[in-house]
Amino acid sequence: MLAMVVAKAKNNVIGKDNQLIWHLPKDLQYFKKLTTGHVIIMGRKTLESLPFLLPNREHWVVTRQTDYVPPYEGVRVFHAPEDAVKAAQQLDIAYCIGGAQMYESFMPYAKELYVTEIEQEFEGDAYFPAIDLHQFEMVESIAGEVDEKNPWPFSFVTYRRKE
Ligand SMILES: NC(=O)c1ccc[n+]([C@@H]2O[C@H](COP(=O)([O-])OP(=O)(O)OC[C@H]3O[C@@H](n4cnc5c(N)ncnc54)[C@H](OP(=O)(O)O)[C@@H]3O)[C@@H](O)[C@H]2O)c1
Repeated sequence: MLAMVVAKAKNNVIGKDNQLIWHLPKDLQYFKKLTTGHVIIMGRKTLESLPFLLPNREHWVVTRQTDYVPPYEGVRVFHAPEDAVKAAQQLDIAYCIGGAQMYESFMPYAKELYVTEIEQEFEGDAYFPAIDLHQFEMVESIAGEVDEKNPWPFSFVTYRRKE
């Protein structure tokens, strides 16, 4: 089953200059808990923005470059999102973790969306696609706790594809 996990601003911004804009330690903890022990699927740009492989997760990358050699060992390479989707559908769960191009490509196949919704607009150049509420229903929304290290109001929201 394919799920997607994202942190997005109120205006759907998810990044700028190939980087995350905000630092929200509570969101990083949530992401870690959700994805540890599972496959994470990402676009080539997101893979290359990681400082290292995320521990205890199998990394899959999607690129059009037929001769692509990932910067880290053990990364499984796909050349089309649909091939990664087919492989993901053999698993209990696999998480698409971005970036913008991957979210766009995987949205039609995603069964669940784990969305950290930050209640503030940010300026950026990468966006999460609109969530079609005819196709997805919100099944959970948990308000995050604001503190000095997590200064913006945010919620952990789960959407599930309607039957
Ligand atoms: N807030 C969040 O939760 C979150 C999460 C992840 C990323 N981000 C942000 O998102 C931004 C990066 O997003 P992005 O859209 O620029 O990059 P991306 O989706 O990570 O990677 C794009 C690359 O994926 C490959 N690709 C895309 N479509 C493909 C297709 N149909 N077939 C084969 N390969 C394909 C291409 O690689 P090649 O060029 O090698 O062919 C393309 O350049 C950054 O700002 C990052 O910080 C935010």
